[in-house]
Amino acid sequence: MYTQSLILDRKSGDAAELEDPERLAHFQRRIDEERKIEPNDWMPGAYRQTLVRQISQHAHSEIIGMQPEGNWLTRAPSLRRKLQLLAKIQDEAGHGLYLYSAAETLGVSREELVDQLLAGRAKYSSIFNYPTLTWADIGMIGWLVDGAAIMNQIPLCRCSYGPYARAMILVCKEESFHQRQGFDIVRTLCAGTPAQRAMAQDALERWWWPCLMMFGPHDRDSEHSDLSMRWKIKRFSNDDLRRKFVDATVPQARFLGLDIPDPELRFDAIEGHWVTGPIDWDEFFAVIQGNGPCNRERLAARRGAHEQGRWVREAASAYAARHAAAAAAAAAAAA
Ligand code: 3HC
Repeated sequence: MYTQSLILDRKSGDAAELEDPERLAHFQRRIDEERKIEPNDWMPGAYRQTLVRQISQHAHSEIIGMQPEGNWLTRAPSLRRKLQLLAKIQDEAGHGLYLYSAAETLGVSREELVDQLLAGRAKYSSIFNYPTLTWADIGMIGWLVDGAAIMNQIPLCRCSYGPYARAMILVCKEESFHQRQGFDIVRTLCAGTPAQRAMAQDALERWWWPCLMMFGPHDRDSEHSDLSMRWKIKRFSNDDLRRKFVDATVPQARFLGLDIPDPELRFDAIEGHWVTGPIDWDEFFAVIQGNGPCNRERLAARRGAHEQGRWVREAASAYAARHAAAAAAAAAAAA
């Protein structure tokens, strides 16, 4: 719906980029001066495409990300935990819708983006292709997955594209509640019985490495980083954010009495950072190519939900059309 108010079509941006280096220089100057780019401003076609790619992948991640947690709604151990989890999952749905709206300001419709997801042509975060086997996994998603998401998304509040940057402010506030509820679940388990502590340790062992993969490939293998950093879409590289996450999380794990499943983990006193062992990038690429433990299950569930919601979309469209027709008739009668 937001696409209707755009005065710029995607092709004109590309053509102008080829023809007009002055426009490109002006665009880069605006970015360097920290002035936001807004939907009706001229932008290079590649800037627009990068944003559509990243924002839509982000939106899909929020929507698919509801599934691993939804799996535990009926089995949350208390009413309080169930209410928190419900609220959190609803927040994720809201983030997805917010982000689809931000993508729409770039001239692509939400329907088009959703079709790409359902057809298996769009990416979403690798992390949501892992199963949630125990209640401790819900704690790990909050503490680690949302913790990693916040580390990546706080800098996006300063992204050069105005609608994305503004959307991220609300998203990050809610994510910080999510991270705390996850940490609280893990802390409770760690202060509980030996079986509960073992459940937390087992979950950490399954989530630790996939969480480090969330930040994307190493900088040398990150094809989009250079341009995204020049355009201030990204403010920190994948490796920098991953390192910040490890530095913040290792002391938390120690406080909880949990062991990070990395025999090579060490503190580099000269650099002042924790250094991890090697990440299994074969696993990462298998997951993002559709061959993770739950990829097929996640897409099948999403397609089913989309189909089951068809009548709601049709009813909403019919209702809106009826009201628009009534308003048009009233305006014609008054004229
Ligand atoms: N999962 C899936 N694909 C990934 C990935 C991941 N964790 N990390 C990188 N990739 C993909 C990229 O999308 C790109 O593929 P493409 O060319 O087909 O689009 C390829 O791997 C190369 O990676 P790059 O580093 O060059 O890509 P980017 O510059 O886009 O960086 C990113 C990747 C850091 C994830 C960046 O896109 C980003 O910051 N995105 C916004 C945040 C986001 O989407 N987070 C997802 C999690 S949301 C979430 O966790 C919800 C919360 O409620 C828990």
